[in-house]
Amino acid sequence: MGKILVTGGAGFIGSNFVHFLIGNTDSDVVVLDKLTYAGNTASLAGLPADRVSLVVGDVCDAEVVDALVASADAVVHYAAESHNDNSLAGPRPFVDTNILGTYTLIEAARRHGVRYHHISTDEVYGDLELDDPQRFTESTPYNPSSPYSSTKAGSDLLVRAWVRSFGLEATISNCSNNYGPYQHVEKFIPRQITNVIDGIRPRLYGAGLNVRDWIHANDHSSAVWTILTRGRIGETYLVGADGEKDNKSVVETILSLMGEDPQAYDHVTDRPGHDLRYAIDSAKLRTELGWAPQYRDFDSGLAATIGWYRDNEDWWRPAKAATEAKYARSGQ
Ligand code: NAD
Ligand code: DAU
Repeated sequence: MGKILVTGGAGFIGSNFVHFLIGNTDSDVVVLDKLTYAGNTASLAGLPADRVSLVVGDVCDAEVVDALVASADAVVHYAAESHNDNSLAGPRPFVDTNILGTYTLIEAARRHGVRYHHISTDEVYGDLELDDPQRFTESTPYNPSSPYSSTKAGSDLLVRAWVRSFGLEATISNCSNNYGPYQHVEKFIPRQITNVIDGIRPRLYGAGLNVRDWIHANDHSSAVWTILTRGRIGETYLVGADGEKDNKSVVETILSLMGEDPQAYDHVTDRPGHDLRYAIDSAKLRTELGWAPQYRDFDSGLAATIGWYRDNEDWWRPAKAATEAKYARSGQ
């Protein structure tokens, strides 16, 4: 693939994908990113200027999108409002970016006949009981809980309809919780790591029994590349690395790996409507396309991530105080 348009490429997972493309493929990259609070040009620092360019713009801007899609060989759409807590405090940007932004991109992709890959989340399937032996599969019914996940579900359904009604050459992936470098300090793992660095006790919502299915962002990137290059048009693939952990264990592991008392954290106000458990069955991606994750040991991936945050304080420090002030206002 010659030139790939990566929307949201200055965010956490999008920037990891851009690094993956430059390190592992011959493709050139154009990033389209609005540089919201979650976008950071420092996440793209050091990449070769003759292969990566950044356009600062909105995925809802049809004129900008049309020109960029027309000159791309493929579009990978990461741009989104991505944080559940923010969606509870103010849902409107989620409706705009996640739904209208996706609409704008797929309209351009169909006009120009460009291959499109849609990045989505396991949260579209709702949540599972802790003891449910089933995990999410591609045929699990949609049942989103939050403004964030419902707008992601809406965007997935738009893509499915554009495939069927207009022959859009699209694939969709729904991935579980990512961790790794370049993740904003509002998210669970980087928030707790940077709290410990700052001498603040980690904050656990409610009892901390909620389970997330962790995957390293690099493994998400290799999965997306696999689907983009070998996936069947019109298909959805679930992406996960068998990484189920409850939040309490994750906080305790972070504290231990950072040389602190594993019980030195606080329970705070729970998230309204808090999904209990996510769990991905990625058998289709593994058997049909031969993908496998490289990061199979969560504790060592977490240790490497802690090392990254210790070594890259310049990257996260500018966002830390404002993020904690926002959480303080909601008692979290
Ligand atoms: P993020 O919040 O770190 O980054 C989002 C990026 O999109 C930012 O760079 C931001 O500036 C940009 N953006 C936001 N609105 C925009 C707009 N209107 N126009 C252009 N750019 C805009 O998000 P993330 O965690 O990297 O998530 C990326 C994608 O992956 C999202 O679609 C999310 O739903 C999906 N996803 C995330 C996870 C996860 O664990 N974080 C898991 C599965 C799927
Ligand atoms: O499952 C994929 C989803 O994972 C993505 O679609 C979302 O974009 C991404 O933000 C993430 O959603 P979560 O809501 O699961 O992630 P978050 O990092 O906000 O929280 C993870 C868990 O940790 C969740 O159960 C809430 C809890 N939590 C979070 C924070 C910020 C805490 O206990 N304390 C905290 O301080």
